[in-house]
Amino acid sequence: MSNTVIVGAQWGDEGKGKIIDILSKDADYVVRYQGGNNAGHTVVIVSEEFIFHLIPSGVLHKKAICVIGNGVVVDPKALLSEIAMLRSKGIEASGKVFVSEQAHVIFPYHQTMDSLRESKKGKIGTTKRGIGPCYADKVSRCGIRVQDLLDPKALKEKLQSNIEEKNKSLAAIYKFEGFSFDGIYKEYLEYGREIKKYVTNTTFLINNAIAKKKRVLFEGAQGTLLDIDHGTYPYVTSSNATAGGACTGTGVGPSRIDKVIGVVKAYTTRVGEGPFPTEFEAPLMEKIRKKGKEYGATTGRPRRCGWFDAVLGRYSVMVNGIDELVVTKLDVLDDLDKIKIAVGYKFNGKLYKDFPTNSTVVEGCEPVYETHDGWLEDTTRVKKLSGLPLNARKYINRLEKLLGAHVSMVSTGSKRDQLIKRID
Ligand code: IMP
Repeated sequence: MSNTVIVGAQWGDEGKGKIIDILSKDADYVVRYQGGNNAGHTVVIVSEEFIFHLIPSGVLHKKAICVIGNGVVVDPKALLSEIAMLRSKGIEASGKVFVSEQAHVIFPYHQTMDSLRESKKGKIGTTKRGIGPCYADKVSRCGIRVQDLLDPKALKEKLQSNIEEKNKSLAAIYKFEGFSFDGIYKEYLEYGREIKKYVTNTTFLINNAIAKKKRVLFEGAQGTLLDIDHGTYPYVTSSNATAGGACTGTGVGPSRIDKVIGVVKAYTTRVGEGPFPTEFEAPLMEKIRKKGKEYGATTGRPRRCGWFDAVLGRYSVMVNGIDELVVTKLDVLDDLDKIKIAVGYKFNGKLYKDFPTNSTVVEGCEPVYETHDGWLEDTTRVKKLSGLPLNARKYINRLEKLLGAHVSMVSTGSKRDQLIKRID
């Protein structure tokens, strides 16, 4: 394995956690480059389920060094609780987990701003973890970074000025009573003391590793259509979830990246508000949600489910430069008689074969479907591609053709061994 980026090629929740865990076996470093604890990456080992929100999903492998890059927004309380969870399972984070001193820190006022905004009309359906407001401060150049938590004077100055400004605007817009400086200052200084041993210059750490020919896996969170630039704006997250984010979010140049793997679910899901052309009607929605256990790993919210959308899939392959695809949760379709794939969108009498970046079109379009016969057989124990029912193989081949990328793995269950590696 070379230096590889793994991205979600839909609206997140594609099952990246399992794939990252499997690929981490051969990785020296596993690096998160964007997002924060809005992510929920699930890994199932035997019958034990782990959900990682901030720490890379590769942490369960002995060898892998896990890095939280500069592009991530860090809630130190969430980080410490994940470290404690690992410790309770016998995994020591010290010397294994590193956090960028340049990463921005999520404060309580970010979470409050996120929640208050969500209570207004026109909400996004965020995870309310403070992600958007924290990135907004980063871009406004008033953010507080991990390195500031280790410097009482810098933290004091920056926090005072942020709290003063936020209190004024929260009072004016939402009549919110405001935050007091002392409690937050003390709490975050303490977090600084606790996370100090994990904090480092991760840009040098990763680049030095690459120079020594170590293998680095870049773990994307969320998904392509949630990317702040390339997603279904404004119903997106606030970071670059696409493969390009791996460079800006770590300080590794594009020429150092050898491969991009895109993960797609055999159908489509999204959580939160926003357009979703292939969304199911009620009875099928319930059936697939139940069978696919489609509930948010972070918020527990029911996910919206729909048919596979090859229009957005092809777009994802393009904007990420995807070399290989992994198709997950194929087994969820096992008992469907007919399976549809969207191959185009229709809007105002015009046919769109390429994903339209105009939000009015995506919001108002009607998908154009092709219908395939289902396979009506259990695929959860299949170990080889040739062992899949013929119609399941035809479905995979069709996705491959429509998206224009090779499918290298197919997952048919949540466990590590429920994975078909394609060798043809
Ligand atoms: P935020 O990232 O909490 O600001 O939420 C913005 C949008 O991204 C909402 O629609 C969320 O449901 C969605 N979102 C954020 N993180 C994830 C994730 O890990 N999986 C799926 N959707 C996510």
